[in-house]
Amino acid sequence: MKRYPSVTRLDPEARKRVVLDIFTTAHRSYDILNRLLSLRRDIGWRRNTVRRMRFSRTMRFLDIATGTADLAIEAAIRNPLIRVNGIDFARPMLGIGRQKVEALGLSPRIELSCADALELPFPASSFDVSAIAFGMRNIPDKARALREMARVTVPGGQVMVLEMTFAPSWPPFRVVYGFYLRRILPGLARLVTSNAAPYYYLADSIMKFPEPDAFDLLMRQAGLVDVVHHGLTFGATYLHVGRVPPRAIEGE
Ligand SMILES: C[S@@+](CC[C@H](N)C(=O)[O-])C[C@H]1O[C@@H](n2cnc3c(N)ncnc32)[C@H](O)[C@@H]1O
Repeated sequence: MKRYPSVTRLDPEARKRVVLDIFTTAHRSYDILNRLLSLRRDIGWRRNTVRRMRFSRTMRFLDIATGTADLAIEAAIRNPLIRVNGIDFARPMLGIGRQKVEALGLSPRIELSCADALELPFPASSFDVSAIAFGMRNIPDKARALREMARVTVPGGQVMVLEMTFAPSWPPFRVVYGFYLRRILPGLARLVTSNAAPYYYLADSIMKFPEPDAFDLLMRQAGLVDVVHHGLTFGATYLHVGRVPPRAIEGE
């Protein structure tokens, strides 16, 4: 079986290559495994994120590291007046996303394109909301990714980060969750796919993700205000929400 080194032993360029390799080879099994390994909680976590989105100015949403477009689709269905852009650097993931968007008749409102989260191909203040779901843990330069999100979001708009983290809010759950991530998750993946290596990487990257307060601080350092986090499913996942500072009213 292929093995990936621990995320802490990779420099940013090597880590980017590993992540690209994972998501260009695991794209076919990604959706099924995602449901199985999160015990279907991923659907509820994305819904929770979309329920908190507010659209008022550009009526546009950017889904970064969109993968197979689940968050983009959920946002478009719940907000019929918005248009959505989804970007990802793994073309095979986008290919599956496009099939899903087309099958749902959402192609006129959702556009998926290949791009890097660190260099978003959009002018400043293009979106009411920008979000990234389960993608931030794969990006070594989180500060730069957050600054890019803030740049493309309108003043007063929302920047959202949904991520699995090993910071259970209920202490007894820590032992169960740790055992699940280290032992059960890769074992389950081995049953379903011939290449379980990405799921060892997944467990490793979840366990190394910054704790919620530390990630809030990163968001504030990227210039965001009113930063809060919401623990989901006993803190197996956190949704971080910040706002781009509103512009000072002219003349004040
Ligand atoms: C775990 S998947 C999440 C997909 C989707 N957001 C979801 O909710 O299921 C992570 C995605 O992040 C993408 N990704 C990682 N680093 C990226 C980067 N620097 N730029 C663009 N996409 C990136 C990967 O290609 C992969 O599709």
